[in-house]
Amino acid sequence: MKKLRTAIIGCGNIYSVHADILASKENVELKYMVDIKENRAQKAAEKYNCEYLLDYSELLNKDIDVVHICTPHFLHSPMAIKFLESEINVLVEKPLALNYAEGKQLLRTAKNSSSHLGVAFQNRFNENNQRAKKILEAGTLGEIKGIKGLVTWHRDKDYYLNDEWKGFYETEGGGVLINQAIHTLDLIQWFGGPIKAVSGNVDTRVLDDVIEVEDTADATLFFEDDFNGIFYATNAFSSNSPIEIEIDCEKGSMRLFEDQLLVKTANKTDNFNENSDTDYKAYWGYGHQRLIDGFYQDLRNSTHSNTIRAEEGIKTLELITAINSSSKNRKKYYLKGVDKR
Ligand SMILES: NC(=O)c1ccc[n+]([C@@H]2O[C@H](COP(=O)([O-])OP(=O)(O)OC[C@H]3O[C@@H](n4cnc5c(N)ncnc54)[C@H](O)[C@@H]3O)[C@@H](O)[C@H]2O)c1
Repeated sequence: MKKLRTAIIGCGNIYSVHADILASKENVELKYMVDIKENRAQKAAEKYNCEYLLDYSELLNKDIDVVHICTPHFLHSPMAIKFLESEINVLVEKPLALNYAEGKQLLRTAKNSSSHLGVAFQNRFNENNQRAKKILEAGTLGEIKGIKGLVTWHRDKDYYLNDEWKGFYETEGGGVLINQAIHTLDLIQWFGGPIKAVSGNVDTRVLDDVIEVEDTADATLFFEDDFNGIFYATNAFSSNSPIEIEIDCEKGSMRLFEDQLLVKTANKTDNFNENSDTDYKAYWGYGHQRLIDGFYQDLRNSTHSNTIRAEEGIKTLELITAINSSSKNRKKYYLKGVDKR
């Protein structure tokens, strides 16, 4: 079987999660590491025994099949569009794009390309999230009555000052919503289904002398299935506490917290522990391996069944726009929904 030739663009914090997985795949050849910072590109290329480049556009003239985009948010959409237009497959780290407008442009390009575009919402592949989704689909807990999502993390001055792209709308696209809480927003809408409206509030409460983006946000989410969700996220807590998601249903409830899923019904409580055997930061989740395996399986089989596509990736961007607009205008924001994008 021909090996798929792959490049990783952006050799910062997250790239090695992708590189380790790719290096362990028999039918993948890790060909290029790309970073504008030569020391990073060179170090990564030495570690993974491949070549390095400083200018990503050189990849357009190389014989490659797949690129992994692990760069700052503002580069996701422009880079992905160039590769898709050259019929090169793309796996982009979250978020799909810098904002909803760029996300729509990328979605249009992806629809017109024969290449695959996947987005790294790897937490969907965590064992307990998969288990919770199956329980909801089986219907044993009845209809959902409400969903709660809480993200209370810590990002201090140094976190923002050490990375030139973080803390600014032009380069990060937002703060806690688009960077830290986006996985939780994705899971909430994945579990609960389409959201029709949002009442939200965003604010920069602690680091307002350092960043222009929000460090805190909350929202009430009005689902199409006639129940509400509540969501709170902040980067202004004293440490990174575990994310909490609770799904309240007619015949019981589910609580996802740390590595546990607690499923409660009138008669019993089941406690499932996630296998958290990983060297990476626990709050990144454990799903990258399964996400990347599924993406490559789809490339091999010319299917899309395992890939989180742009149609999915754009939902959180619309939600973030909704929360921001509602906060700014002090009124409920009605989402357009997937059919009208
Ligand atoms: N899925 C997850 O859980 C998860 C976790 C962490 C980060 N991320 C995402 O991964 C992406 C990267 O985050 P990070 O923390 O690794 O950032 P980072 O700043 O550590 O790394 C980004 C790298 O991209 C390089 N870069 C910038 N411009 C470039 C260009 N034009 N061409 C090539 N390289 C360029 C930078 O020099 C840097 O080395 C972001 O989208 C982030 O949100 C996802």
